[in-house]
Amino acid sequence: MSIINCENRMFSAVQPSGMPTLGNYLGAIRNWVKSQEKFNCIFMLADLHTITVRQNPEEFRKNIIEAYALFLACGINTSKTPFFIQSHVSAHSELAWILDCYTQFGELSRMTQFKDKSKKYANDVNAGLFCYPVLMAGDILLYKSKYVPVGADQKQHVELTRDVAQRFNNIYGDTFILPEPFIPEVGARVMSLQEPTKKMSKSDANANGYIAILDSPDIIMKKFKRAVTDSEAKVEYKEGKDGVNNLMGIYSAITGKSLEEIESEFDGKGYGVFKTKVAEVVIEELRPIQEKFKDYINNIDYIKECYKKSDDIAREIADETVKEVKQKVGFVL
Ligand code: TRP
Repeated sequence: MSIINCENRMFSAVQPSGMPTLGNYLGAIRNWVKSQEKFNCIFMLADLHTITVRQNPEEFRKNIIEAYALFLACGINTSKTPFFIQSHVSAHSELAWILDCYTQFGELSRMTQFKDKSKKYANDVNAGLFCYPVLMAGDILLYKSKYVPVGADQKQHVELTRDVAQRFNNIYGDTFILPEPFIPEVGARVMSLQEPTKKMSKSDANANGYIAILDSPDIIMKKFKRAVTDSEAKVEYKEGKDGVNNLMGIYSAITGKSLEEIESEFDGKGYGVFKTKVAEVVIEELRPIQEKFKDYINNIDYIKECYKKSDDIAREIADETVKEVKQKVGFVL
Protein backbone atom coordinates (compact mmCIF):
# COMPACT_ATOMS: atom_id res chain seq x y z
CA MET A 1 0.00 0.00 0.00
CA SER A 2 1.19 3.47 -0.83
CA ILE A 3 2.54 5.83 1.76
CA ILE A 4 -0.38 8.14 1.16
CA ASN A 5 -3.83 6.76 1.65
CA CYS A 6 -5.45 6.61 -1.79
CA GLU A 7 -9.02 6.69 -0.57
CA ASN A 8 -10.80 9.86 -1.55
CA ARG A 9 -7.85 10.70 -3.77
CA MET A 10 -8.10 13.72 -6.00
CA PHE A 11 -5.58 14.31 -8.76
CA SER A 12 -5.30 17.20 -11.12
CA ALA A 13 -2.75 18.99 -13.22
CA VAL A 14 -2.23 22.08 -15.31
CA GLN A 15 0.24 22.90 -17.99
CA PRO A 16 2.86 25.55 -17.31
CA SER A 17 2.18 27.43 -20.51
CA GLY A 18 2.15 31.11 -19.62
CA MET A 19 0.58 33.15 -16.85
CA PRO A 20 -2.84 31.78 -15.83
CA THR A 21 -5.90 33.99 -16.21
CA LEU A 22 -8.72 34.98 -13.91
CA GLY A 23 -10.64 32.21 -15.69
CA ASN A 24 -8.08 29.60 -14.66
CA TYR A 25 -8.11 30.98 -11.15
CA LEU A 26 -11.88 30.94 -10.64
CA GLY A 27 -12.45 27.78 -12.66
CA ALA A 28 -9.62 25.63 -11.36
CA ILE A 29 -6.94 26.98 -9.05
CA ARG A 30 -9.30 28.24 -6.37
CA ASN A 31 -11.11 24.92 -6.34
CA TRP A 32 -7.84 23.05 -5.93
CA VAL A 33 -7.03 25.18 -2.93
CA LYS A 34 -10.42 24.45 -1.37
CA SER A 35 -10.21 20.75 -2.17
CA GLN A 36 -7.12 20.39 -0.01
CA GLU A 37 -9.45 20.43 3.00
CA LYS A 38 -11.85 17.79 1.73
CA PHE A 39 -9.85 15.35 -0.35
CA ASN A 40 -6.62 13.54 -0.39
CA CYS A 41 -5.09 15.69 -3.12
CA ILE A 42 -2.08 15.37 -5.37
CA PHE A 43 -1.43 18.13 -7.88
CA MET A 44 1.03 18.33 -10.73
CA LEU A 45 2.53 20.69 -13.26
CA ALA A 46 2.14 18.85 -16.56
CA ASP A 47 5.33 20.01 -18.25
CA LEU A 48 5.62 16.88 -20.42
CA HIS A 49 2.27 17.75 -21.97
CA THR A 50 3.48 21.24 -22.80
CA ILE A 51 6.19 20.12 -25.24
CA THR A 52 3.57 18.75 -27.62
CA VAL A 53 3.73 22.35 -28.83
CA ARG A 54 7.23 23.69 -29.51
CA GLN A 55 8.63 25.75 -26.62
CA ASN A 56 11.44 28.23 -26.36
CA PRO A 57 13.69 26.62 -23.70
CA GLU A 58 14.34 29.74 -21.64
CA GLU A 59 10.73 30.82 -21.69
CA PHE A 60 9.56 27.31 -20.88
CA ARG A 61 11.82 27.08 -17.83
CA LYS A 62 10.60 30.47 -16.66
CA ASN A 63 6.96 29.47 -17.16
CA ILE A 64 7.43 26.33 -15.08
CA ILE A 65 8.93 28.17 -12.13
CA GLU A 66 6.41 31.00 -12.35
CA ALA A 67 3.47 28.64 -12.54
CA TYR A 68 4.82 26.78 -9.53
CA ALA A 69 5.27 29.99 -7.51
CA LEU A 70 1.83 31.16 -8.50
CA PHE A 71 0.12 28.02 -7.23
CA LEU A 72 1.94 28.38 -3.93
CA ALA A 73 0.82 32.01 -3.81
CA CYS A 74 -2.78 30.95 -4.41
CA GLY A 75 -2.65 28.66 -1.39
CA ILE A 76 -1.44 25.21 -2.38
CA ASN A 77 0.20 24.00 0.80
CA THR A 78 2.87 21.43 0.03
CA SER A 79 3.10 20.39 3.67
CA LYS A 80 -0.14 18.52 3.17
CA THR A 81 -0.62 18.41 -0.60
CA PRO A 82 2.15 17.14 -2.84
CA PHE A 83 2.47 19.50 -5.81
CA PHE A 84 5.09 18.03 -8.08
CA ILE A 85 6.59 18.40 -11.53
CA GLN A 86 5.66 15.70 -14.04
CA SER A 87 9.05 15.45 -15.78
CA HIS A 88 10.73 14.80 -12.42
CA VAL A 89 8.85 11.54 -11.99
CA SER A 90 9.93 9.21 -14.77
CA ALA A 91 7.04 6.81 -14.11
CA HIS A 92 4.83 9.17 -16.14
CA SER A 93 6.81 8.63 -19.33
CA GLU A 94 7.10 4.94 -18.61
CA LEU A 95 3.43 4.25 -17.99
CA ALA A 96 2.47 6.39 -20.99
CA TRP A 97 4.42 4.06 -23.29
CA ILE A 98 2.86 0.96 -21.81
CA LEU A 99 -0.65 2.41 -22.03
CA ASP A 100 -0.02 3.50 -25.64
CA CYS A 101 -0.03 -0.20 -26.40
CA TYR A 102 -3.51 -0.54 -24.88
CA THR A 103 -5.04 2.44 -26.67
CA GLN A 104 -6.43 2.29 -30.17
CA PHE A 105 -5.50 4.61 -33.01
CA GLY A 106 -9.22 5.08 -33.66
CA GLU A 107 -9.90 6.20 -30.10
CA LEU A 108 -7.20 8.83 -30.20
CA SER A 109 -8.32 10.01 -33.63
CA ARG A 110 -11.71 10.85 -32.17
CA MET A 111 -10.40 13.18 -29.47
CA THR A 112 -11.78 16.63 -30.19
CA GLN A 113 -8.78 18.38 -28.66
CA PHE A 114 -6.49 16.49 -31.02
CA LYS A 115 -8.62 17.51 -33.97
CA ASP A 116 -8.59 21.15 -32.87
CA LYS A 117 -4.90 21.22 -32.13
CA SER A 118 -3.90 19.49 -35.33
CA LYS A 119 -5.66 22.29 -37.19
CA LYS A 120 -4.12 24.97 -35.02
CA TYR A 121 -0.58 23.54 -35.26
CA ALA A 122 -0.95 22.12 -38.77
CA ASN A 123 2.80 22.32 -39.47
CA ASP A 124 3.67 20.17 -36.44
CA VAL A 125 1.12 17.42 -35.91
CA ASN A 126 3.57 15.31 -33.91
CA ALA A 127 2.99 11.91 -32.32
CA GLY A 128 3.07 13.52 -28.87
CA LEU A 129 0.04 15.62 -29.74
CA PHE A 130 -1.75 12.46 -30.81
CA CYS A 131 -0.75 10.42 -27.72
CA TYR A 132 -1.28 13.31 -25.29
CA PRO A 133 -4.46 11.76 -23.80
CA VAL A 134 -2.57 8.56 -23.01
CA LEU A 135 0.09 10.48 -21.09
CA MET A 136 -2.76 12.11 -19.21
CA ALA A 137 -4.39 8.74 -18.54
CA GLY A 138 -1.12 7.55 -17.04
CA ASP A 139 -0.93 10.65 -14.82
CA ILE A 140 -4.31 9.86 -13.35
CA LEU A 141 -3.94 6.09 -13.09
CA LEU A 142 -0.52 6.14 -11.45
CA TYR A 143 -2.05 7.64 -8.32
CA LYS A 144 -5.20 5.47 -8.29
CA SER A 145 -7.15 8.69 -8.34
CA LYS A 146 -10.91 8.69 -8.03
CA TYR A 147 -11.70 12.38 -8.51
CA VAL A 148 -10.19 14.34 -11.35
CA PRO A 149 -11.26 17.98 -11.51
CA VAL A 150 -10.93 19.20 -15.08
CA GLY A 151 -12.39 21.81 -17.38
CA ALA A 152 -15.05 20.70 -19.83
CA ASP A 153 -12.42 20.53 -22.60
CA GLN A 154 -10.61 17.71 -20.75
CA LYS A 155 -13.64 15.60 -19.91
CA GLN A 156 -13.26 13.42 -22.99
CA HIS A 157 -9.70 12.59 -21.93
CA VAL A 158 -10.87 11.44 -18.51
CA GLU A 159 -13.49 9.26 -20.20
CA LEU A 160 -10.78 7.74 -22.38
CA THR A 161 -8.75 7.14 -19.21
CA ARG A 162 -11.65 5.11 -17.83
CA ASP A 163 -11.86 3.06 -21.03
CA VAL A 164 -8.16 2.30 -21.05
CA ALA A 165 -8.14 1.48 -17.34
CA GLN A 166 -11.13 -0.80 -17.74
CA ARG A 167 -9.51 -2.57 -20.66
CA PHE A 168 -6.32 -3.14 -18.70
CA ASN A 169 -8.26 -4.37 -15.67
CA ASN A 170 -10.24 -6.77 -17.86
CA ILE A 171 -7.08 -8.36 -19.15
CA TYR A 172 -4.95 -8.40 -15.99
CA GLY A 173 -7.37 -8.13 -13.09
CA ASP A 174 -8.09 -5.12 -10.89
CA THR A 175 -5.19 -2.75 -11.17
CA PHE A 176 -6.49 0.74 -11.79
CA ILE A 177 -9.25 2.77 -10.15
CA LEU A 178 -11.69 4.19 -12.70
CA PRO A 179 -11.58 7.98 -12.31
CA GLU A 180 -14.52 10.34 -12.48
CA PRO A 181 -14.32 13.73 -14.09
CA PHE A 182 -15.20 16.30 -11.50
CA ILE A 183 -16.52 19.53 -12.96
CA PRO A 184 -16.68 22.19 -10.22
CA GLU A 185 -20.02 23.91 -9.61
CA VAL A 186 -19.08 27.54 -9.39
CA GLY A 187 -16.97 29.87 -11.43
CA ALA A 188 -16.40 27.10 -13.90
CA ARG A 189 -16.62 29.17 -17.01
CA VAL A 190 -15.25 32.66 -17.30
CA MET A 191 -15.61 34.12 -20.78
CA SER A 192 -13.52 36.60 -22.76
CA LEU A 193 -14.18 40.23 -21.80
CA GLN A 194 -14.10 41.15 -25.47
CA GLU A 195 -15.91 38.21 -27.05
CA PRO A 196 -18.08 36.86 -24.25
CA THR A 197 -19.22 33.82 -26.22
CA LYS A 198 -15.64 32.48 -26.11
CA LYS A 199 -13.82 31.13 -23.08
CA MET A 200 -11.33 33.53 -21.45
CA SER A 201 -7.92 32.44 -22.71
CA LYS A 202 -4.36 33.61 -22.30
CA SER A 203 -3.73 32.79 -25.95
CA ASP A 204 -6.28 35.43 -26.98
CA ALA A 205 -4.58 37.78 -29.44
CA ASN A 206 -6.39 40.70 -27.80
CA ALA A 207 -4.99 41.12 -24.27
CA ASN A 208 -8.13 43.08 -23.30
CA GLY A 209 -10.05 39.81 -23.53
CA TYR A 210 -8.39 38.28 -20.48
CA ILE A 211 -7.18 39.22 -17.01
CA ALA A 212 -3.83 37.64 -16.20
CA ILE A 213 -3.48 36.85 -12.50
CA LEU A 214 -0.51 39.20 -12.24
CA ASP A 215 -2.12 42.13 -14.10
CA SER A 216 -1.69 45.35 -12.12
CA PRO A 217 -4.74 47.04 -10.55
CA ASP A 218 -4.65 49.77 -13.24
CA ILE A 219 -4.67 47.25 -16.05
CA ILE A 220 -7.46 45.23 -14.44
CA MET A 221 -9.59 48.35 -14.07
CA LYS A 222 -8.92 49.36 -17.67
CA LYS A 223 -9.79 45.91 -19.02
CA PHE A 224 -13.08 45.74 -17.13
CA LYS A 225 -14.03 49.25 -18.22
CA ARG A 226 -13.51 48.15 -21.81
CA ALA A 227 -15.44 44.91 -21.37
CA VAL A 228 -18.08 44.32 -24.01
CA THR A 229 -21.67 44.58 -22.70
CA ASP A 230 -24.82 45.66 -24.57
CA SER A 231 -26.95 48.73 -25.07
CA GLU A 232 -29.63 47.93 -22.49
CA ALA A 233 -27.81 49.46 -19.50
CA LYS A 234 -29.48 46.95 -17.17
CA VAL A 235 -27.59 44.56 -14.91
CA GLU A 236 -29.67 41.47 -15.48
CA TYR A 237 -28.78 37.82 -16.06
CA LYS A 238 -30.55 36.91 -19.26
CA GLU A 239 -30.00 34.96 -22.44
CA GLY A 240 -28.29 37.03 -25.09
CA LYS A 241 -26.64 39.33 -22.54
CA ASP A 242 -23.38 37.37 -22.69
CA GLY A 243 -21.10 40.21 -21.64
CA VAL A 244 -23.19 41.18 -18.62
CA ASN A 245 -23.80 37.55 -17.68
CA ASN A 246 -20.07 36.96 -17.66
CA LEU A 247 -19.35 39.98 -15.46
CA MET A 248 -22.12 38.90 -13.10
CA GLY A 249 -20.65 35.40 -12.99
CA ILE A 250 -17.23 36.77 -12.06
CA TYR A 251 -18.72 39.07 -9.42
CA SER A 252 -20.77 36.22 -7.99
CA ALA A 253 -17.84 33.78 -7.93
CA ILE A 254 -15.75 36.23 -5.93
CA THR A 255 -18.32 37.74 -3.57
CA GLY A 256 -20.49 34.66 -3.13
CA LYS A 257 -23.57 36.78 -3.91
CA SER A 258 -26.40 35.22 -5.91
CA LEU A 259 -27.38 36.56 -9.32
CA GLU A 260 -30.61 38.01 -7.87
CA GLU A 261 -28.68 39.81 -5.15
CA ILE A 262 -26.40 41.27 -7.79
CA GLU A 263 -29.35 42.38 -9.91
CA SER A 264 -30.85 44.29 -6.98
CA GLU A 265 -27.50 45.70 -5.88
CA PHE A 266 -27.09 47.37 -9.29
CA ASP A 267 -30.73 48.11 -9.95
CA GLY A 268 -31.00 51.50 -11.64
CA LYS A 269 -27.23 51.88 -11.86
CA GLY A 270 -25.40 51.98 -15.17
CA TYR A 271 -22.76 49.62 -16.50
CA GLY A 272 -20.02 52.09 -15.56
CA VAL A 273 -20.70 51.64 -11.83
CA PHE A 274 -21.12 47.90 -12.23
CA LYS A 275 -17.89 47.37 -14.18
CA THR A 276 -15.91 49.45 -11.68
CA LYS A 277 -17.26 47.38 -8.82
CA VAL A 278 -16.44 44.08 -10.56
CA ALA A 279 -12.92 45.34 -11.25
CA GLU A 280 -12.53 46.36 -7.60
CA VAL A 281 -13.44 42.96 -6.20
CA VAL A 282 -11.15 41.25 -8.69
CA ILE A 283 -8.28 43.57 -7.76
CA GLU A 284 -8.79 42.85 -4.05
CA GLU A 285 -9.07 39.10 -4.65
CA LEU A 286 -5.80 39.05 -6.61
CA ARG A 287 -3.84 41.51 -4.48
CA PRO A 288 -2.68 39.08 -1.75
CA ILE A 289 -1.84 36.47 -4.40
CA GLN A 290 0.27 38.97 -6.31
CA GLU A 291 2.10 39.95 -3.13
CA LYS A 292 2.83 36.36 -2.17
CA PHE A 293 3.89 35.59 -5.72
CA LYS A 294 6.55 38.31 -5.48
CA ASP A 295 7.91 36.75 -2.30
CA TYR A 296 8.00 33.22 -3.68
CA ILE A 297 9.48 34.04 -7.05
CA ASN A 298 12.38 35.73 -5.25
CA ASN A 299 12.95 32.67 -3.15
CA ILE A 300 13.91 29.97 -5.59
CA ASP A 301 15.39 27.79 -2.82
CA TYR A 302 12.01 27.58 -1.14
CA ILE A 303 10.31 26.72 -4.43
CA LYS A 304 12.82 23.92 -4.99
CA GLU A 305 12.31 22.61 -1.51
CA CYS A 306 8.55 22.44 -2.13
CA TYR A 307 8.75 20.62 -5.42
CA LYS A 308 11.53 18.27 -4.37
CA LYS A 309 9.65 16.96 -1.39
CA SER A 310 6.51 16.67 -3.53
CA ASP A 311 8.43 14.90 -6.32
CA ASP A 312 9.68 12.35 -3.79
CA ILE A 313 6.22 11.51 -2.53
CA ALA A 314 4.81 11.28 -6.04
CA ARG A 315 7.72 9.12 -7.20
CA GLU A 316 7.23 6.65 -4.42
CA ILE A 317 3.55 6.13 -5.23
CA ALA A 318 4.02 6.17 -9.01
CA ASP A 319 6.96 3.75 -9.02
CA GLU A 320 4.93 1.28 -7.08
CA THR A 321 2.12 1.41 -9.64
CA VAL A 322 4.53 1.01 -12.55
CA LYS A 323 6.08 -1.99 -10.86
CA GLU A 324 2.68 -3.59 -10.43
CA VAL A 325 1.81 -2.90 -14.08
CA LYS A 326 5.10 -4.29 -15.38
CA GLN A 327 4.71 -7.38 -13.31
CA LYS A 328 1.19 -7.97 -14.66
CA VAL A 329 2.16 -7.37 -18.29
CA GLY A 330 4.95 -9.92 -17.97
CA PHE A 331 8.16 -7.96 -17.82
CA VAL A 332 11.00 -9.52 -15.89
CA LEU A 333 11.49 -7.47 -12.73
N1 TRP B 1 -4.32 18.12 -20.12
C1 TRP B 1 -4.63 18.97 -19.01
C2 TRP B 1 -4.84 20.40 -19.48
O1 TRP B 1 -4.20 20.83 -20.41
C3 TRP B 1 -3.55 18.93 -17.96
C4 TRP B 1 -3.36 17.57 -17.42
C5 TRP B 1 -2.32 16.73 -17.67
C6 TRP B 1 -4.24 16.91 -16.52
N2 TRP B 1 -2.47 15.58 -16.98
C7 TRP B 1 -3.64 15.64 -16.27
C8 TRP B 1 -5.45 17.25 -15.91
C9 TRP B 1 -4.24 14.71 -15.43
C10 TRP B 1 -6.05 16.30 -15.06
C11 TRP B 1 -5.45 15.05 -14.84
O2 TRP B 1 -5.62 21.11 -18.88
